[in-house]
Amino acid sequence: MINPYQPLPVKILSVIQETPDTKIFRLKFLDSVKQKQFYFWQGQFAQVGLPGQGEAPFDISSNSHDSTAYFEVAIRQVGRLTQALHHLHKGDRLYVRAPLGKGWPSTDVLSQKNLLLVGGGCGFLALKSVIEEVSLGYAKKHQVQVFYGCSDEAQVLFKERYQDWQKSGIKLKLIFDKKEPTKKYIQGISCGYGLITKLFETEKVVTHASAFLCGPPVMFKFVIKKLQERGFKDSEIYLSLERRMSCGLGVCQHCAIGDKYVCKDGPVFRYDEVKDYL
Ligand SMILES: Cc1cc2nc3c(=O)[nH]c(=O)nc-3n(C[C@H](O)[C@H](O)[C@H](O)COP(=O)(O)OP(=O)(O)OC[C@H]3O[C@@H](n4cnc5c(N)ncnc54)[C@H](O)[C@@H]3O)c2cc1C
Ligand code: FES
Repeated sequence: MINPYQPLPVKILSVIQETPDTKIFRLKFLDSVKQKQFYFWQGQFAQVGLPGQGEAPFDISSNSHDSTAYFEVAIRQVGRLTQALHHLHKGDRLYVRAPLGKGWPSTDVLSQKNLLLVGGGCGFLALKSVIEEVSLGYAKKHQVQVFYGCSDEAQVLFKERYQDWQKSGIKLKLIFDKKEPTKKYIQGISCGYGLITKLFETEKVVTHASAFLCGPPVMFKFVIKKLQERGFKDSEIYLSLERRMSCGLGVCQHCAIGDKYVCKDGPVFRYDEVKDYL
């Protein structure tokens, strides 16, 4: 049996400078059997580390259908570990424990409803794998609307995927809250200026839908209010939460909220299950 505390070595297949502070790392387990058996659910995360630098959680952002060949994490440089990770190159080795946590509910659990995905800043990373998944057919049969807010054009993530997502039926809208956009469209996606909640006024929001949210805590508060005004029940809203983590396995209590552990019971929670702890 594999020891869940044991980080396994992975090789970096590629590194892409996605935005000025975020790099996308494509990774593959050195153990080819492990890689062939590897599967993650959208919204699960990986503990990524380097000897002497510690480890930290990062959302697995690639398409889960590619998981037997590789998986990707997008890492924003904010401190000691992420700075060390940003110094790595193709061919270098790092250490991973994955997949961890519980991800977004499956579309079957949601009774095949429409979807509204709302991502703020780095929170968009937690939605990327769901977007990839629903782009493979679900978005042709159901409405999938994505609101993505970030500070400015330079911070926009995954631009090169937008045309494919659009072709798949996904309706994406971008909004910047620090600098006005210099162009109307990025890869065919219209960009607005203001807080992400503004999109609830300017866009026709999907109905008969579940909502998936990830972003800064302040965003949750205001977006949930907008959702409730539009008739979303608390049980139709799902959040991916970020907390400082250590073991990632529900043992050390670092990430406890109320009687739950973000690492083991989440990071994705149904809003009615955690609203008293937020
Ligand atoms: C479930 C989960 C998924 C995540 N997914 C991603 C991802 O896909 N990509 C990504 O870039 N980051 C992600 N993060 C955040 C990432 O784990 C932290 O940025 C990382 O731990 C920073 O390590 P560091 O040593 O570089 O920074 P530190 O030196 O530890 O911290 C630098 C700064 O970042 C703040 N910080 C560190 N961790 C967090 C956190 N969890 N929440 C809020 N602020 C924090 C610190 O307060 C400090 O101000 C995720 C976190 C969680 C819990
Ligand atoms: S990180 Fe240890 S209990 Fe969640």
